[in-house]
Amino acid sequence: MMRIAIELTYLISSILFIFGIKYLSSPKTARKGNLYAAIGMFLAIAATLLDQEVLTFEWIIIGAIIGSFIGILLAVKTPMTGMPQMVGMLNGFGGGASTLVALSEYFKLNPNYPVDTGIPFDLPVDTGIAIVLSLLIGGVTFTGSMIAFGKLQGLVTGKVVKYPLQHPFNLFLILLVLAGGVFILFNPSNIIIVLIITFISLVLGVLLVLPIGGADMPVAISLLNSYSGLAGSTTGFVLGNNELIIAGALVGASGIILTNIMCKAMNRSLMNVVMGGWASAGAEGPAVESKIHKGTVKSVDAEELAMLLESISSLIIVPGYGMAVGQAQHAVRDLMNVLEKKGVKVRFAIHPVAGRMPGHMNVLLAEAQVPYDKLLAMEDINEDFSNTDAVIVIGANDVVNPAARHDQSSPIYGMPILNVDYAKTVIINKRSLNVGYAGIDNELFFYPNALMYFGDSKSAMSELVKQLSGANS
Ligand code: TAP
Repeated sequence: MMRIAIELTYLISSILFIFGIKYLSSPKTARKGNLYAAIGMFLAIAATLLDQEVLTFEWIIIGAIIGSFIGILLAVKTPMTGMPQMVGMLNGFGGGASTLVALSEYFKLNPNYPVDTGIPFDLPVDTGIAIVLSLLIGGVTFTGSMIAFGKLQGLVTGKVVKYPLQHPFNLFLILLVLAGGVFILFNPSNIIIVLIITFISLVLGVLLVLPIGGADMPVAISLLNSYSGLAGSTTGFVLGNNELIIAGALVGASGIILTNIMCKAMNRSLMNVVMGGWASAGAEGPAVESKIHKGTVKSVDAEELAMLLESISSLIIVPGYGMAVGQAQHAVRDLMNVLEKKGVKVRFAIHPVAGRMPGHMNVLLAEAQVPYDKLLAMEDINEDFSNTDAVIVIGANDVVNPAARHDQSSPIYGMPILNVDYAKTVIINKRSLNVGYAGIDNELFFYPNALMYFGDSKSAMSELVKQLSGANS
């Protein structure tokens, strides 16, 4: 009876996860999606705790308290700009958990652990395959994510790391794990081989992610996210837990869809990503201050800019990482409101990798109550720049850098960009001429139709709104 109740709860929870993801696909229904998924997770945890296999509640409670404490601390302490690192680390924990569960399940099944009893050990083939895959994917996800965290946090080099025979060696290690896996199916008692498989998988994670340059990290993080789902799913097979299989598959599949979107946004091929070390020639990682600025730029102050904006009828706002750093989204919303009152058509152009995490700009602008229908994806608005009076770029740099179109030596060469330079006038708000994430200069600032509006995004936008409102009254 209890079994049926648990399986039924798992089923309901899985359905909630599926609807949760469905609703998360649109900003309008995203809150509902979050709620559904959270209820699904609550049910899944409750059913797992009621499962008879869970015997020691003391340890679970201790673990839950320590885990919650660390989780709350991290969530409160991590700034919005540190989210990619945090996501990277959490992916890693998922992979690490899969590795530990697969190992403990193996030890539990093996009668010759911890002492060799000589009792023959018959490991079912499906369980054996699931254990080996869990160790491989979980191990790669754990160490790979830790390296990704280190790179984004500046603890590990953000540069592309190349070494001889990189790909053949990685392939050799994968084959070694698979060979070890086949060996285990025929000699399941051999604990040493299981430990070697685990070790090689952990090393593989480091070797696959270490070569990746910082500029390609968004793709790496979303791929590792997908791996963490796959690791969870294979662990579901190890434990015979349907809920875990479904939830893991959902994370794996949605992660790979996101990776695909990111690949398109960065113009990278998915195959190169899966092989690791796909970074383009010059991708050098997180921003290094560049001193090479050519020519002179034209700059405007708030008053001059307000006068200019008084005369336009269409405007596209391009938000970027600097809007997030300055927390300028509310001031940007005010700018939209004041201009709309003056009859200006205002829209937002959102680049898929603007900011530091997928959907970063959408989340911030939604928080400031900018209507969703004003937020247009790159492919839906890129054609419109040429017939728009003005564009205001707020704290964006790489995603509007025209070098991506023509400079083959640039680390962002080939990345589709927002065509802001095609507008009649493009105003760029940032604090200086400094580089963005990819660490490269931006020729846009020197274009004849470009005007720099220097300053911190929040105070610059607030000042502009003040000027426009003053002119209005
Ligand atoms: P970036 O190219 O990183 O440029 C941001 C600019 O904002 C900087 O040049 C900086 O210039 C300016 N800025 C910083 N603080 C500011 C403030 N308080 N007020 C005004 N400006 C400020 O940003 P982007 O165009 O959004 O491009 C995103 C980059 O991050 C891409 O290279 C992308 O590949 C990478 N990335 C993206 C993700 C995801 S998933 N979105 C994840 C990891 C990496 P000043 O110092 O002169 O002000």
